[in-house]
Amino acid sequence: MAQIRIRNTNERIEGEDEVKAFLDSQEVVYEHWDANKLPVALREKFILSDEEKAEIISTYEAEIKDLAARRGYEIWDVISLSDVTPNIEELLKKFEQVHTHTEDEIRAIVSGKGIFIIKSEELGYFDVELEPGDVISVPENTNHFFTLMDNREIVAVRLFIEKDGWVAYNIDDPDFIKG
Ligand SMILES: [Fe+2]
Repeated sequence: MAQIRIRNTNERIEGEDEVKAFLDSQEVVYEHWDANKLPVALREKFILSDEEKAEIISTYEAEIKDLAARRGYEIWDVISLSDVTPNIEELLKKFEQVHTHTEDEIRAIVSGKGIFIIKSEELGYFDVELEPGDVISVPENTNHFFTLMDNREIVAVRLFIEKDGWVAYNIDDPDFIKG
């Protein structure tokens, strides 16, 4: 289950209902898939063959089709990141840049952990710490970035309306304070 940390105040929001209510107030979609559906052999596995990625997609086919039907996604894939990913340090540096897209950014966490840092107009930046089964969509045109947590391992399903809608527009936001 996701947890929230508001950076300006260090306030944490925990508990299913509280997290859901907060994310609703920020127009961030927050849903769940059953993390236990993932085949045991694929749990905590962060180097994936194309066949294993296809197996993840077929495991969650019903959930993907449901999201696609409700929200208009046309394509999806599986992304896996860990310390063995080539150029992981460079990739993480690139990730940790505030940006926006004209499309929403939706991720379903399948394995490992990750964190979205999102800007609220009223509260400033807040962190959403994600676990397996968490599904989150950052609204379009909202300042954010995604990065790994201390374990530096994640597998997630990404869905897109179209690849072109997902170009990142980097923003140097003086309101953003690292840490
Ligand atoms: Fe993004």
